[in-house]
Amino acid sequence: MPAIRMDGRAVAARWKEEARKRAEHCLEHGVTPHLAVILAGEDPASRVYVRNKENACAKAGIRSTVIRLAQDCTQEELEKTVLTLNEDPGVHGILVQLPLPKHLCEARVLALVHPDKDVDGFHAMNAGRLMIGQKGFVPCTPLGVMKLLEAYGIPICGKHAVIIGRSNIVGKPMAMLLLAANATVTLCHSHTQGLAELTRQADILVAAVGKPGFVTAEMIKPGAAVIDVGINRTQDGLTGDVEERAADVAGFLTPVPGGVGQMTIAMLLSNTLDAAERHGC
Ligand code: GUN
Repeated sequence: MPAIRMDGRAVAARWKEEARKRAEHCLEHGVTPHLAVILAGEDPASRVYVRNKENACAKAGIRSTVIRLAQDCTQEELEKTVLTLNEDPGVHGILVQLPLPKHLCEARVLALVHPDKDVDGFHAMNAGRLMIGQKGFVPCTPLGVMKLLEAYGIPICGKHAVIIGRSNIVGKPMAMLLLAANATVTLCHSHTQGLAELTRQADILVAAVGKPGFVTAEMIKPGAAVIDVGINRTQDGLTGDVEERAADVAGFLTPVPGGVGQMTIAMLLSNTLDAAERHGC
């Protein structure tokens, strides 16, 4: 039986509707939820992502402001922009779109975003909170994956979850979330030996590699839930990290597009509303 396609669009639509109601509630209490997005440079993919975020905010009734900085903007300019947004009581969430132009220091900028406005969950304070099981902002993509697993009733407790990719944005927080849900977690990366042997043990396999077709059908345990976080631009359009034949082996599979990507945006709205609701709505 071919894998069940996990419909991220449909699950995200429910979260977006929930966000719309929450935003309405805030407005009724005199608070306009407001997300500020900093977009430095001209990266074409980043521009598309930011436009998608703006559109999603507009549909949910969340105000969004995009601050566009030139490709050759200075570190100082970028840092000043963050500090100004930190001080603005009308801004609830701040997001610095990554990657930044090469000459800018990402770590220094992310460290400046106030942890209470850090709706991406990239600040060390929020990363640390996630690590030790305290409440804080959780990065949107791994959070979206958890909500998708939940929506499809996929058991996590006691299961073996294998993640490929150890980025701060996806792999590491994904490992923490699955661990907190009592999975046994294996975090694989470019130096991992015997990768396929490990992935074949996975009840839940998360691919966040950035290489089209990296995960083949032979790497998948029959019946596993395979979560494809990859968004790769190829001649054939957008493709994930998991090859098409995976559908013959997996029990559940997320499509690209229409899987995790939609959940990421829905979680950004949810995190922004969490931030706004601290202001008494
Ligand atoms: N670039 C790729 N993914 C993300 C994300 O989730 N947040 C930000 N800020 N930049 C990204």
